[in-house]
Amino acid sequence: MRNSRPDILAFQDHVIIPDPDAPTLHMAELYGNDNPLEVDIGSGKGRFLIARAHKHPDVNYLGIERQLGRVYRTAKKADHRGLTNIKVTQVEARLGLSEMLPDESVTTFYIFFPDPWPKRRHERRRLVSQPFLDLLHSKLAPRGCIHFATDHKDYAEATAIVFGDDARFSSIPPFEPSEDELTDFELIFTAQSKPTNRLSIQKQ
Ligand SMILES: C[S@@+](CC[C@H](N)C(=O)[O-])C[C@H]1O[C@@H](n2cnc3c(N)ncnc32)[C@H](O)[C@@H]1O
Repeated sequence: MRNSRPDILAFQDHVIIPDPDAPTLHMAELYGNDNPLEVDIGSGKGRFLIARAHKHPDVNYLGIERQLGRVYRTAKKADHRGLTNIKVTQVEARLGLSEMLPDESVTTFYIFFPDPWPKRRHERRRLVSQPFLDLLHSKLAPRGCIHFATDHKDYAEATAIVFGDDARFSSIPPFEPSEDELTDFELIFTAQSKPTNRLSIQKQ
């Protein structure tokens, strides 16, 4: 696995391969139902997604992650646990959201521990920005939510400004995960005694 390309097709029921000729996903066809859709952006190794999908069988979950090995690990876990409400796709988040998700199709976005790009000259590589919030807004259903968490104080402050400046959203109490929903990175940061900053907003 470490030296060879992971065979994500081994778990094809849980993997969506982007189709450049027909990019827009048809959720009812893919999941076999019309249940609400929740999307984890930068889903990593999938600890959060797997825990949520297990506890909420009437919700569909989609992980968007650009690292193939992490997509593979999530799909493998979903397969081994027999979860039918979880899919993951290897794609860059901005591209995946804009091309693959229908407008107003998502009830909740989770953005947990996105890469902080701590050097000032790299800050523009951060995912959360006004244009990205515009994209999330277009994909969110009415009253849909965005939940954000980071260990990085500066990223939290910058995100609070982007969220707070946008009158199309209102601030809501932050999403508090249960123990089994803590992400792989949150477990690492918590072990290092780094506090987590959480922010949540709701589309008006
Ligand atoms: C620090 S990790 C956090 C993973 C997971 N959310 C967690 O908390 O354990 C950031 C993840 O986001 C993914 N990622 C970063 N930028 C991305 C992008 N533009 N599109 C898709 N995935 C991205 C990385 O590959 C990585 O798996």
